[in-house]
Amino acid sequence: MSRYATFVLFLTLGIAFQLSHGTEVTVVDKDNQLCLFANLMVNFSVSYEVADNKSATVEFELPTKVTTDESTCGATSSTLKLNFGEGHSWSVNFTINGKMYQADTIIFSYNLSDTTVFPNSVLNETETVAVKPRITDVGVDTCYSCKSKDMIEADKVNQTLWNVLIQAFVSNNRTSENITSCPADVPTTTVAPTTHAPSTTTAAPVTNSTTIAPSPTTTPTPTLPTPTTGKYSIKHDENSTACLIANIGLRIGFKQEEMNFDPNGTKVSGSCGVNSSELILMSNTMTIMLTFTNDTKKFRLHALNITGKTSSGVLFSEANTNLSLWEAAVGTSYMCNKEQNYTITSPLALYTFDLQVQPFGVKNGVFSTAHECSLDDTSILIPIIVGAALAGLILIVVIAYVIGRRKTYVGYQTL
Ligand SMILES: *[C@@H]1O[C@H](CO)[C@@H](O)[C@H](O)[C@H]1NC(C)=O
Ligand SMILES: *[C@@H]1O[C@H](CO)[C@@H](O)[C@H](O)[C@H]1NC(C)=O
Ligand SMILES: *[C@@H]1O[C@H](CO)[C@@H](O)[C@H](O)[C@H]1NC(C)=O
Ligand SMILES: *[C@@H]1O[C@H](CO)[C@@H](O)[C@H](O)[C@H]1NC(C)=O
Ligand SMILES: *[C@@H]1O[C@H](CO)[C@@H](O)[C@H](O)[C@H]1NC(C)=O
Ligand SMILES: *[C@@H]1O[C@H](CO)[C@@H](O)[C@H](O)[C@H]1NC(C)=O
Ligand SMILES: *[C@@H]1O[C@H](CO)[C@@H](O)[C@H](O)[C@H]1NC(C)=O
Ligand SMILES: *[C@@H]1O[C@H](CO)[C@@H](O)[C@H](O)[C@H]1NC(C)=O
Ligand SMILES: *[C@@H]1O[C@H](CO)[C@@H](O)[C@H](O)[C@H]1NC(C)=O
Ligand SMILES: *[C@@H]1O[C@H](CO)[C@@H](O)[C@H](O)[C@H]1NC(C)=O
Ligand SMILES: *[C@@H]1O[C@H](CO)[C@@H](O)[C@H](O)[C@H]1NC(C)=O
Ligand SMILES: *[C@@H]1O[C@H](CO)[C@@H](O)[C@H](O)[C@H]1NC(C)=O
Repeated sequence: MSRYATFVLFLTLGIAFQLSHGTEVTVVDKDNQLCLFANLMVNFSVSYEVADNKSATVEFELPTKVTTDESTCGATSSTLKLNFGEGHSWSVNFTINGKMYQADTIIFSYNLSDTTVFPNSVLNETETVAVKPRITDVGVDTCYSCKSKDMIEADKVNQTLWNVLIQAFVSNNRTSENITSCPADVPTTTVAPTTHAPSTTTAAPVTNSTTIAPSPTTTPTPTLPTPTTGKYSIKHDENSTACLIANIGLRIGFKQEEMNFDPNGTKVSGSCGVNSSELILMSNTMTIMLTFTNDTKKFRLHALNITGKTSSGVLFSEANTNLSLWEAAVGTSYMCNKEQNYTITSPLALYTFDLQVQPFGVKNGVFSTAHECSLDDTSILIPIIVGAALAGLILIVVIAYVIGRRKTYVGYQTL
């Protein structure tokens, strides 16, 4: 079990993203298959009795170090039990109901004899509170996600849950990429708490509308700014000039979520070959590998491999090794200033802005003549406009010349 957690954590660190570190646990069933996953943050505020009939209130967080003994996974009900500190525990049980599952009861037990948490407590027994969580209507095979704070009050205990990512009834030994967001995370009206990909826009003040969206595919349109154009280059060695140069603003779309690639802080690596060159961009949240090939006359983007994590914490890795994009003659560069989008794999789309690349035959570290993409209106329009203007000018000159000639001719004749 803990090995599993370590593995997940390792993966997490592997792609070095910056996400709030909640308490992350996994539970496996008797066949060693992942059956329950949780990453969440909980704050407890507990009031307890101290001397002279007075009460004290302490606030503490669910530690990241917990054990999951006594957690169970069943076909229709599962329990996640997190044990921590000196005899404290927090558990939640889930039940499946058709195509949905929900959390039934949260049971929090705290041991008042733990003097580090409850100093001067007059009681020394373990107290237990049961509360009803608002985790309902979670689609089977989806992760429940709730970044918003949710305070659940009980008599002497307030629990605040946030940055919650839970999947119960995990199938096929891996967590789902699909998310059921809590209503508080969903930006208003049209979208009900149904299955959808999370949006990266920060939620506007939430009105807890209960209107059911007509289709779960209705997604809030993300209003991302144009990504910053990164200027990347690869050198054979430290003393040579660049052998691969690329200026690109990148955005990727994974399912319904769109993310800009931030060039600031990006680690650039890669290699230049005769027939194949590679550019690897590693940001905090994403790693993008671009492989270019040279087939003597032309180069093209042949393979793309993107690994990253969505805002809800879902890891993804998508690759296509059979692309033919950004084609241009070897010794020139490919340029496309206009926004372009490409479907790389069915869940992954790539958007480019202000693109110029030259993966082969770079001279003096600067771009050679650019082959512009046909999408650039300006690249088509400007020659057309200039051509039309020139043609008009020539016509006027010719007409003027002809008229002038005729006038002179006529003039000569009358003499
Ligand atoms: C489930 O996945 C984990 C890690 O990905 C692996 O160690 C384990 O053997 C898998 N279990 C089964 C039953 O395939
Ligand atoms: C729980 O929250 C309520 C409302 O904010 C507050 O009045 C109460 O004192 C809190 N109780 C504890 C134990 O923190
Ligand atoms: C949770 O508790 C910690 C420590 O008491 C505190 O610093 C933090 O602000 C709390 N967070 C929330 C959301 O209440
Ligand atoms: C969930 O746990 C509570 C408290 O132990 C219990 O009353 C309830 O029956 C459980 N629900 C299911 C479906 O097991
Ligand atoms: C708990 O408190 C009772 C008296 O209130 C005392 O007799 C007992 O020894 C205490 N137990 C522990 C484990 O401290
Ligand atoms: C996620 O949702 C999509 C579309 O709704 C569906 O095609 C896909 O099978 C789902 N994936 C999982 C793992 O449930
Ligand atoms: C919205 O939530 C608030 C408190 O969370 C509740 O008082 C109110 O009745 C809810 N409104 C609707 C329309 O559900
Ligand atoms: C780069 O140049 C420096 C000084 O000119 C030299 O010391 C170093 O060995 C060179 N490095 C390579 C990889 O050629
Ligand atoms: C890059 O990030 C650093 C630290 O995160 C920040 O100080 C700097 O202003 C950023 N630069 C740009 C161009 O955004
Ligand atoms: C894409 O990159 C990841 C991480 O480096 C790697 O595990 C995976 O095998 C690569 N996929 C392809 C098709 O090269
Ligand atoms: C992708 O580009 C096509 C035109 O090339 C455009 O019709 C479509 O709306 C674009 N899709 C997105 C999501 O921007
Ligand atoms: C492209 O490939 C051809 C044939 O493999 C090779 O002769 C040529 O040097 C390559 N061009 C560059 C710029 O590497």
